[in-house]
Amino acid sequence: MAASAGSTSLRLDNPGMTIHTILKMGDPRLLRIALPVTAFDTDKLHLLISDMFDTMRSVNGAGLAAPQIGVDLQLVIFGTDAVNPRYPDAPVVPRTVLLNPVITPLSSVEDDGWEGCLSVPGLRGVVPRWSNIRYTGFDQYGDAIDRTVDGFHARVVQHECDHLIGKLYPMRVRDFTQFGFTEVLFPGLDASQDD
Ligand code: NI
Repeated sequence: MAASAGSTSLRLDNPGMTIHTILKMGDPRLLRIALPVTAFDTDKLHLLISDMFDTMRSVNGAGLAAPQIGVDLQLVIFGTDAVNPRYPDAPVVPRTVLLNPVITPLSSVEDDGWEGCLSVPGLRGVVPRWSNIRYTGFDQYGDAIDRTVDGFHARVVQHECDHLIGKLYPMRVRDFTQFGFTEVLFPGLDASQDD
């Protein structure tokens, strides 16, 4: 899965299923400030979101942001409605499509937690995130989303929405003694899966 200039895709045997190439850190498209979505409930948007879920599922990701497949829009998806095999002990995060998100921390309390990223394969780091947040935005139909969450759910939302402002998690790491290769830090964990 070499980095490519375009948003190349692989159409698998299953018609209608599209796995996009995920951009890797170093690609300038990951550093852009994404544009707000202005047209909701369009065929084009629904296809993009379907492709993003196919892509996320193909790597057991906890979330995916449109800029990671080279699409410069404020669109993230996350959650599975089921236990993620990557995070068997983590609480279930509802399957969510979130456009034009706004995150508001509800206190100054932060949690440290390990993160990886599909755009930063093979590495993990401890990242501080707000413990309690409110997030608002819209779903793909233009209906409002307004949730107050904490813990792992809050972490996933903050990680994914960071992709919309050109931030990759290594830019949030404060203690680089807790940043390294997955295969070294967590022997036995499948290092090919790095959301
Ligand atoms: Ni990521």
